[in-house]
Amino acid sequence: MLSLILPTYNEALNLPELLPKIRSVLSQVPHEIIIVDDDSPDHTWKVAQELAEKLGDVHVIRRIGRRGLSSAVIEGFLAAKGDVLAVMDADGQHDTGLLAKLHDAVRKHGGIAIGSRYIEGGSVGEWDERRYMLSRIATKMALSLCAVKAKDPMSGFFALDRNVFEEVLPRLNPKGFKILLDLLVHVPKSTSVTELPFTFATRRHGESKLSRRVQLEFLEYLYDVSIGNWIPLTFVKYCIVGGLGVGVHLTAYLFFSAFLAHGLPLSLMGFSLALLGAIETAIIFNFWLNNVWTFAYAKLQGFAIIPGFLTYNFACAFGALANYAVSTYLYSHGLGEIVSVIIGACAGIIWNYTMSRMFAWKNA
Ligand code: GDD
Ligand code: MN
Repeated sequence: MLSLILPTYNEALNLPELLPKIRSVLSQVPHEIIIVDDDSPDHTWKVAQELAEKLGDVHVIRRIGRRGLSSAVIEGFLAAKGDVLAVMDADGQHDTGLLAKLHDAVRKHGGIAIGSRYIEGGSVGEWDERRYMLSRIATKMALSLCAVKAKDPMSGFFALDRNVFEEVLPRLNPKGFKILLDLLVHVPKSTSVTELPFTFATRRHGESKLSRRVQLEFLEYLYDVSIGNWIPLTFVKYCIVGGLGVGVHLTAYLFFSAFLAHGLPLSLMGFSLALLGAIETAIIFNFWLNNVWTFAYAKLQGFAIIPGFLTYNFACAFGALANYAVSTYLYSHGLGEIVSVIIGACAGIIWNYTMSRMFAWKNA
C-alpha cells in the first residue's frame, strides 16, 4: 500500500484541484492520502476535511502551533499505514503522473525513488536565473554530505520503503525543508536510489514558502552535519556575538565619553563612568543577540527574560570586573583612552575564557 503525504500551508485553493487528480492516477494502486496542515490561516485543514469526507481514505492532521515542511512530512510518515511512503507538494508543481512509477520503483528496488529535475528528461521548468543558480549551488554543497548520491537531493517529490524510514528516523533533523537530503545523509550506504525524471511545473495558486529564513536554516544544517560535529554551531555564533560585542563596547564608550567630557579632557571619574556604561551596553547587546540568534531554539520570552538577563549579568560579572580594572588601571597610568578600553575588553574576554576553562569545563 502507498501512503502519500501532502504537507500543506495555505493551499486551500490547490487541494480541490489536486486530490481528484491523485485519485484518478492511483486508481490501480491501493493507497491512502495524509494531509498534514500547520493550521493554515486560509483554513486549508477545513477544505481538506471536507474533501476527506467526500473522497474516503484521506486523513487530515491539523498541527497547532507548529511549522515546518520536514517535520510535517515526518509526522505524516509516522501516521501512515503503507509499506511505501511518498511525499509531494500540494500546489500542483509535482507531476502526479509519476506517482505510480515512484511506487513501482520502491517495490522493485527498495530504498528511495526520487522525482528528479536534474536528470535527462527532467527540468526545473520556468524558474528565474536566480532560483536556478541558488538551487544548483545548494545541490552541489549538499551532495558532498550524502551517504548515497543522487542528482536531485533537494527534490520534494519522492517515495521510500517504510523500513528505510524507520531505520533512519532517530537520526533525522526535522528543521526546514530538506527532508530528502536529510534522509540521503543518514541512510546506510547500501540503500538503493532510483531517479525518475519530471518537469517542475509552476505553482497553481498562492506562493512558495521557501523563505530566506528557510535558506539560512539550510546553510546551518550543512554546517551542523559537517564541521558542526567538531565545533558546535552555537559556539561559533557565541564567538561572533562576542566579537560584535567588543565593537558595541567601543562605540558605546565613545558615545558616553563624548557625552561626559563636553569637549574637555576626561577625568578618571568620567572615564570610569563611561566605561561602566559601555560594559553594561555590551552586556545588554550580547544578551539580546545570543537570545534571538545563538540560542534562538531556546529563546527566553516574556517575563522569563528578566531572571535570564540577571543571571547572564552575574555570569559576565567577573569578566566585566577584569575589563573595568585593567582599563582604569591603564588609563590612570597615562595610557590613551581608546587603547585602555580595547586592552580592557581583551582582558575581560581572556578572563572569561580562562575561568570557563578552569572551572566550568575543567576537562576541555
Ligand atoms: N505543513 C506544512 N508546514 N507544510 C508546508 C510548510 C510548513 O511549514 N511549508 C511549506 N509547506 C508545504 C507547501 O504548502 C507545499 O505543499 C509544500 O510544502 C512545498 O512548499 P512550497 O512553498 O511549494 O515549496 P517550493 O515549491 O518553493 O519548494 C519545492 O522545491 C524545493 C526544491 O527546489 C519543495 O518541493 C521543496 O521540498 C524542495 O526542496
Ligand atoms: Mn511548491
